[in-house]
Amino acid sequence: MNWSLVVIVVLLIACGILAWRYYDLKKRLDEYARLVRVAPEKLPTDVKQIEGLSNAVASLQAAFNVERSTLNAQNERLATVLEQLTDGVIIVDANGLIQLANPAAQRLFETSSALGRSVIEVLRNHQLVEAWRRCQQTGEMQSESVELPARRQFLQVIAIPDTHASGSLLLAQDLTRVRRLETVRRDFISNISHELRTPLASLKALTETLQGGALSDPEAGPRFLGRINAEVDALTQMAQELLDLSRIESGQVELMLMPLDPKKLLNSAADRMRLQAERAGLKLRVHCAEDLQSVRVDKARLEQVLVNLIHNAVKFTKPGGEITLEAESTSGGVKFAVRDTGVGIPSESLSRIFERFYRVDRSRTGSGTGLGLSISRHIVEAHGGKIWANSREGEGSVFHFEIPSV
Ligand SMILES: Nc1ncnc2c1ncn2[C@@H]1O[C@H](COP(=O)(O)OP(=O)(O)OP(=O)(O)O)[C@@H](O)[C@H]1O
Ligand SMILES: [Mg+2]
Repeated sequence: MNWSLVVIVVLLIACGILAWRYYDLKKRLDEYARLVRVAPEKLPTDVKQIEGLSNAVASLQAAFNVERSTLNAQNERLATVLEQLTDGVIIVDANGLIQLANPAAQRLFETSSALGRSVIEVLRNHQLVEAWRRCQQTGEMQSESVELPARRQFLQVIAIPDTHASGSLLLAQDLTRVRRLETVRRDFISNISHELRTPLASLKALTETLQGGALSDPEAGPRFLGRINAEVDALTQMAQELLDLSRIESGQVELMLMPLDPKKLLNSAADRMRLQAERAGLKLRVHCAEDLQSVRVDKARLEQVLVNLIHNAVKFTKPGGEITLEAESTSGGVKFAVRDTGVGIPSESLSRIFERFYRVDRSRTGSGTGLGLSISRHIVEAHGGKIWANSREGEGSVFHFEIPSV
């Protein structure tokens, strides 16, 4: 027997078996790799001959899945926050292209598709673009506030450098409301100091004159004291009106609503003001159907509105004129009117007379602070109604207010 031949045959057989096993393993591994690529969720575990590997991959995959779902949840939370945020958030890459813009940013910059567009094109404002450029160049945070007159908007943009991606993050805030409130407050303070100065200056002048000798003058003394008294009354009324206004505006006044016949309301306001009207040489009439539906109102407050309107009508109507109080049913409730034959209101002032301290022509209104209509508007609006005026200069004015029936 040729031993060497036997050895060769055995070796050949062993090589054949090894080759076969290698081929089989490679086939399984290739198939496994294919599944990892195309269908990782269907990966078999405990694959014959590669049990160790397939089990390790399976546990790796499980850990990966847990991490991925945590990441997804975090992403979703972040997306919700960005979506709900009232401030605009924009992420810009190193080339100035927008990678992300939340809905608030799209709203603030009036664009529907900011993604992928140039930041210059979306910001559309030289100062804001410059702030972004400075941030890119210096790598430091920049802030810029601008007024956009075309949109009557006031924006503040903060550009923060994103050191990892060499881009930047832009935060945009709409400061329009805050600015408007600041202006209102400033106007209010300057108006009130102006309104206080006039009576205070005349009080000062009157007391100085009295000190200067008028006190012992039997004719001038009492006259000056009478004027001091009138000025103090005016100041007291102003303080009371301001208090009323701030209470009503801050919602501190609770309305005591009860059903009321509109005609009764007109009559009781007319009774309170009749003497004043007659003294001014004016006729005061009530013109109203008997069977009007009743309205739920706070009687004292609504009567105050009517008294304010009648008071104005008396002030701004020449002797011989007429003031008419009216009420009628409308589809939504009851509409009241105070009509006069007075000097009227220029059309450009009609929309402003309900503002605090607004007076059409200070020279023609001797007394008054310009608060009456503002208070009236607040009371009517607190009842869910609205107030407005129509007028023709020289012919008279009519003030309407409508109270809805609930
Ligand atoms: N019936 C009216 N006819 C003409 N102008 C009017 C009439 N009612 C109001 N106005 C104008 O509107 C302005 C604002 O009225 P409002 O009642 O708020 O203030 P006022 O009467 O001047 O002061 P106050 O009511 O605080 O004493 C008046 O100053 C006046 O110029
Ligand atoms: Mg008034």
